[in-house]
Amino acid sequence: MRLFINIDHVATVREARKADEPDPVQAACLAELGGADGITVHLREDRRHINDRDAERLRSTIRTPLNLEIANTPQMRRIAIGLTPHQVTVVPEKREEVTTEGGLDVADSPDLEAALVVLAEAGIRTSLFIDPEPDAVRRSADLGAHAVELHTGEYANSRGAERTSQLQRLETAARLGRDLGLAVHAGHGLTYVNVIPVAAIAHCEELNIGHSVVSRALFVGMERAVREMKTLVRDASSTQRSLEP
Ligand code: PXP
Repeated sequence: MRLFINIDHVATVREARKADEPDPVQAACLAELGGADGITVHLREDRRHINDRDAERLRSTIRTPLNLEIANTPQMRRIAIGLTPHQVTVVPEKREEVTTEGGLDVADSPDLEAALVVLAEAGIRTSLFIDPEPDAVRRSADLGAHAVELHTGEYANSRGAERTSQLQRLETAARLGRDLGLAVHAGHGLTYVNVIPVAAIAHCEELNIGHSVVSRALFVGMERAVREMKTLVRDASSTQRSLEP
């Protein structure tokens, strides 16, 4: 199980003052020291946190893979191809949202297939952020994505029996993804408290976690915040692996 750390909100603090600190590139390097297997940033159309220069500096500085989240627009595709990160995760984006609110509508995204081809031809691994629905997983495989990132937001927001059924939904989607030859990732709303059952899902190989880790980093520092999350994720995923045939 790989742990990718989303550092958008380091840049959110910087942008609150339109200043030059804190530096997300410095945060990324400390996240790597803490054991991050990759760094994720979402380059939004309104550049509310990460900007083009951050993305370029990250690309040339970090040692681990860069996962660039983008909306499927011509401008973002051009930037991604110029940058050639290790991976692009295509996400839905609305200007008015506080954070990504749900998975892509893969059933009704006419130019998505062509976009995945163009990105793959540029040597970029492609992932689609989708709701954990069997139809969305099947459609993602048909579209030719390398991976899907299952949206864990509903799991994170649920409690009790509802949480159990949201977890089962994620497990079913992960198994289907694996059976269809997709790499399966997961993320959104994961915290130190709720991550363990998700990290234990068989066939899930990558988690993307941002807000909770950046929040904890304010108190204990980025390196330690990442190391603590990495320990939780590693221990949970090794338990699951040993149950597999
Ligand atoms: N995955 C995707 C596709 C996202 O858009 C985000 C938020 O930017 C995350 C994961 C990380 O979510 P969180 O900040 O809640 O950990």
